[in-house]
Amino acid sequence: MKGQSSRVLLLLAFLSADLSGGESCYEPTDQDPYLYFSHKTAYQLIFNSKFKPVPYCRPTFVWMFIRPGTSYPNTNESMAIRQLHQFRDRVIKNHEERRNGHLCKHVLDSLKLWEFEVNPTSEDDISPQGRMDMQLLAKRTKDKMSEVLVKEINRNTFKIYASEDQKVMNSAEEFSKTMFGDNFQSKVPIEKIQKNSSFIGSESCPKWTDAVHNSEASLFRKTPEYLEMVSQMSKRLGFLENITDSIIHAMYESCRYNKALVIESYPAWCGLFTRQELQLLEYYEDLDYYYKYGYGSEINTKVGCPIARELMGYLNAVAKNDSDRPSAVFRFGSSAGLLTTLLALGVAKDTIPLTHSNYHAQYRRQWRMSQVDPFSSNFAAVFYKCDQGDEENKVMFYLNEGVYDYPGCNVGLCSWKFVENKFKHYLAPNGCNDEVCRDRSRASGVRCAALVTALIPIVLAYLHV
Ligand SMILES: *[C@@H]1O[C@H](CO)[C@@H](O)[C@H](O)[C@H]1NC(C)=O
Ligand SMILES: *[C@@H]1O[C@H](CO)[C@@H](O)[C@H](O)[C@H]1NC(C)=O
Ligand SMILES: *[C@@H]1O[C@H](CO)[C@@H](O)[C@H](O)[C@H]1NC(C)=O
Ligand SMILES: *[C@@H]1O[C@H](CO)[C@@H](O)[C@H](O)[C@H]1NC(C)=O
Repeated sequence: MKGQSSRVLLLLAFLSADLSGGESCYEPTDQDPYLYFSHKTAYQLIFNSKFKPVPYCRPTFVWMFIRPGTSYPNTNESMAIRQLHQFRDRVIKNHEERRNGHLCKHVLDSLKLWEFEVNPTSEDDISPQGRMDMQLLAKRTKDKMSEVLVKEINRNTFKIYASEDQKVMNSAEEFSKTMFGDNFQSKVPIEKIQKNSSFIGSESCPKWTDAVHNSEASLFRKTPEYLEMVSQMSKRLGFLENITDSIIHAMYESCRYNKALVIESYPAWCGLFTRQELQLLEYYEDLDYYYKYGYGSEINTKVGCPIARELMGYLNAVAKNDSDRPSAVFRFGSSAGLLTTLLALGVAKDTIPLTHSNYHAQYRRQWRMSQVDPFSSNFAAVFYKCDQGDEENKVMFYLNEGVYDYPGCNVGLCSWKFVENKFKHYLAPNGCNDEVCRDRSRASGVRCAALVTALIPIVLAYLHV
């Protein structure tokens, strides 16, 4: 990773040397460009590459949830980014004909060279970088957990689950090939999870769309800081009017996709934003996800129950020396699924909720999607059997391969008793309430179902009190 950042520095140094002098113009001067782009951050920039074995302990079981590798933009995003070709021409005109623009010549020149075309068949699929993310993740996991992976490989000793989505499925295949060999399907087939399964996360939850209130993110776009960013950017690009928010977003999308797809590049559109502006946009995205998939909406904290129940069931079986359980379980799913899992376990939870008005106070927030949910993000629970110390059974959680310093544990190492006690409600006979996502009454007729849907916001409004 050192190599990558020095390449970026070199590029910047080269760009500055090229400055043609004259009036002050805008150029990126940051020696260490800000590359944290919320849930579309490149995995290589944030994963924890330093793994230390736990002394006197052997890993005996691994459960992992993995988000797909770096993907191409989906159809909508692609369309938005494509518009930028025309917009770029207007920016050039502002500079060369109307003489209103403030970009330095070399910044404008790199914008002129920018091209972005995604083959429609690749849209929303993982990219070559995404395949590599999965191969490298599998390779590192295999090295670190070699003691768990010595068992005979078959459909009882290992489990692979993936939701029916092209990028999820392709990620699962890429990972499994490295983990179990090219012909893994004959030994450990990938089990498909249906779109309506309660193991997918909030997106498969019928009540979710009605129950999520996401006004904070749109309110944030009306704050003085945000409006100032739009106004500054408009001036910088040579517009007399303020440019639209959708253009700002297309610029940001292009910047972060280009960076994640070609990790050694420093994309043209990224260079137009200041560090502060990129942090503001990062917060906007985090805020959006906080209410869409995060702790901001009550329903999200409940839909992860089936997944937490599965995990607790396995950990419990390991603690009880049950030999009739798999050695490792790999689940592949969307961001929504990963975040649902984290919510069920209370990971990345802030004591003060994120709102449109507390941006500065949330500078050290736990809910930072650049660290929690970049492309290829993953969460693992590993059960350790230990020879020394107070207790034989320990559990460690890993977020993006780094030890997650779970509150109540010893630098991330939790006693099984603590975990069991904290989450025992998931193991109770009626541990998960189906009605969080589905109404039983819906089955009894369409008219009734419509009425129930209409009532949900009211019921939820009461629940908030
Ligand atoms: C794409 O945009 C259309 C129209 O705005 C919207 O209805 C649709 O849900 C979007 N699709 C995705 C995958 O975001
Ligand atoms: C999910 O959908 C399948 C068919 O598409 C159906 O057979 C199954 O009962 C559904 N499951 C749930 C939990 O609704
Ligand atoms: C652009 O937005 C800023 C901040 O909201 C505002 O003060 C300014 O008047 C706007 N400029 C134009 C030309 O509308
Ligand atoms: C599990 O096995 C270990 C070592 O073989 C033993 O010390 C421990 O008591 C067993 N635990 C249970 C719950 O049977």
